[in-house]
Amino acid sequence: MVANAERPHAILVLTGAGVSADSGVATFRGPDGLWEGHRVEDVATPEAFRRDPDLVHAFYDARRAKLETVQPNAAHQALARLDAEWPGELLIVTQNVDDLHERGGARRLLHLHGELKRGWCLGCGERFAWEGEMGAVAVCPSCDTAGKVRPDIVWFGEMPYEMERIDAALQRCDLFVSIGTSGAVYPAAGFVQTALYCGARCLEMNLEPSQGSIFFHETRLGRAAELVPAWVEELLGG
Ligand code: OAD
Repeated sequence: MVANAERPHAILVLTGAGVSADSGVATFRGPDGLWEGHRVEDVATPEAFRRDPDLVHAFYDARRAKLETVQPNAAHQALARLDAEWPGELLIVTQNVDDLHERGGARRLLHLHGELKRGWCLGCGERFAWEGEMGAVAVCPSCDTAGKVRPDIVWFGEMPYEMERIDAALQRCDLFVSIGTSGAVYPAAGFVQTALYCGARCLEMNLEPSQGSIFFHETRLGRAAELVPAWVEELLGG
């Protein structure tokens, strides 16, 4: 257990694809630079969606279907325990578009890059929960228009969600913890610098040092499913 004098009050946890890797969800940046066989520009930009909506829908439909076959792992569960038991401020910011944090039980959570299980109608502007296939002919449950619904995912060139709330939490936190992210995609990759500048202790847990590793006071290398439960136990005590 962490001694009272060293105990942080406000914690901000940033998670990336590495936290879901132990559940069998593929990470983004393999050694070949491809994303499940696709170039990022072909499936994760607004231009790609305008050019070939069928391809983009097929890509996200497959990822949404994959969610039905995977379960939260010990890292998601440990973060849910932290959420339930941490008496101070906590915000879990995930870059992941899967729903494994919420299925693991986390509540103080936000999705910076959107969610596979949400849709966004480009006709009426509504955003809504979505289950199953979307496809290019999906009908908006709000305005009943077909063919205008897109996955509610933040693509390259688009503005991530809830940045004001995240920025305020980054400025207030006294412990910033980054788990399972390569630190390759901004603005999330820059969160550590804001937290550091505002005086937070910064801890990284990842399989390998991330691109922003030098900014962390401490880096723990290994699998999230092992490192995160041990860290939460350390923080909360037996
Ligand atoms: P990446 O695929 O870039 O990085 C995943 C990181 O997790 C790597 O540094 C791996 O070493 C590490 N890792 C892999 N398995 C792990 C394990 N079992 N335990 C701990 N760490 C492990 O994924 P992100 O950093 O999340 O954006 O990528 C950021 C964004 O890039 C994504 O949110 C996505 C993508 O483009 C959008 O879709 C908008």
